[in-house]
Amino acid sequence: MAAVDYKNAKLIAETSKITEGKVAWQSPSNIAIVKYWGKHGLQLPNNPSFSFTLEQAVSKTSINYRPKKGSDPGVELSFSFHGSPQPAFAEKIKKYFIGLTEYFPFIKQFRFEINSENSFPHSAGIASSASGMSVLALCLCSMEHQLFGSPEDDGVFRRKSSYMARLGSGSACRSIYPTAAVWGASSEIANSSDLYAIPFKDEIHESFQTIQDTILLISKSEKAVSSRAGHQLMEENIYAHNRYKQAQDNLSLLLPALKNGDWEQFGRITESEAMTLHALMMTSNPPYILMQPNTLEAIQRIINYRKSEKIPLYYTLDAGPNIHLLYPLNEKEKVQSFIEEQLAPLCTDQKYIIDQAGAGPKEL
Ligand code: PMV
Repeated sequence: MAAVDYKNAKLIAETSKITEGKVAWQSPSNIAIVKYWGKHGLQLPNNPSFSFTLEQAVSKTSINYRPKKGSDPGVELSFSFHGSPQPAFAEKIKKYFIGLTEYFPFIKQFRFEINSENSFPHSAGIASSASGMSVLALCLCSMEHQLFGSPEDDGVFRRKSSYMARLGSGSACRSIYPTAAVWGASSEIANSSDLYAIPFKDEIHESFQTIQDTILLISKSEKAVSSRAGHQLMEENIYAHNRYKQAQDNLSLLLPALKNGDWEQFGRITESEAMTLHALMMTSNPPYILMQPNTLEAIQRIINYRKSEKIPLYYTLDAGPNIHLLYPLNEKEKVQSFIEEQLAPLCTDQKYIIDQAGAGPKEL
C-alpha cells in the first residue's frame, strides 16, 4: 500500500472563498480487548490493539466556522460542553488544532465555535477521549471536504480521519469504524499500521459482531491519573518490554478466536489484558490502584456466575474502576437479570449503561 502523506495540504488561496459553514458528527467510544498502553514518537503505539466500537456511548459535536477577522496567525476557537463554555478544554483543543495545521493549514484562516455533548459521564474511565477526539477529527476532515472536495471516497476519508484522531488520542483512531478495529502494525494483519486504525468487522464471527457491552458505573469520579501520564509511566516500567511482547502474542491468539466465534478463548485473553493493564499501573512509579473495592467484588461475582451458569460472560476494564461486561446477544436476557440482582447494587446510584458493538460514527 502506498505510504500516506497528509502534509500535501492546501490553504484557501482566494480570500473571497473563505466562507462560513458548519460540520457536525457523532462518534462513539470504543472498548479495547488487546489494550494500547505505552507509546513513542508522535502518538505511535508500542503494540497493536483491537477494540469493539460502541453504539450508545457517543460524543456529538458541531463546528461552526467563519472567516477569521484581523491578522492573528494563531488558532481561534471556543468550546462549549452541554451548552456551557469550557475554557480549559478549549485550550486542549486549541493545542490539538495547532498540531493539525501541518495537515490542515486552512485551520488558521477560520474561527471555530465548537459545541459538544456526551451521552455518558466524562472522565469516568469510559474512553471520552476516544469519542471526543475522533469526532473532532471527523469534523475537520468533513470541513476539508466542504472546502476542497477531498478526500473523495469513504475508505480514504475514514483512514485520514483515523490518522488525525490518533494525533489527538491514540485510542480515538479505532472509533472511526463500525463494529471493530485494529490499530498498530502486525505482521499477521494485512494493511495494519501504527499511523491509523483499519476496519475489522469482516474478520470476526457473527456472534462477535453483535457483542453486548454493559458498562457498570462503579465510580463516576475523575480519573486518578490521566492516560497521558499513564502512557508516560510505561517508559520506566520494568515490565514494559514483556508487556509489548505479550500484547503481540495475545493478538495472535485473539484473531482465530474472533474468527471462529471461540468465546472461551476470547474471554481468557480479554480478562488477562484487563488485569495486565491494571498490574502495569500498580507496578509503575509512582504506583496507582485504579480499581475500587466494588470493582473487585463485581469481578468475583462475574466469575462465580460464569462458572455456575456456564454463560460466556467476561469483563474488561479501561484505565479506571468501571467494568465492561461482554457477552453474546443471545444471553442478553439472563445476563440482564444477573446485572439487576447482583451487580447494579455495586454501581454508583445503581447505574450502568447498556451498550453493544455499533455502526460507528454518523454525520449529523
Ligand atoms: O487513547 P488514550 O491515550 O487515552 O489511551 C487509552 C488507553 C486505554 O483506553 C487504557 C486502552 C485502549 O487501548 O483503549
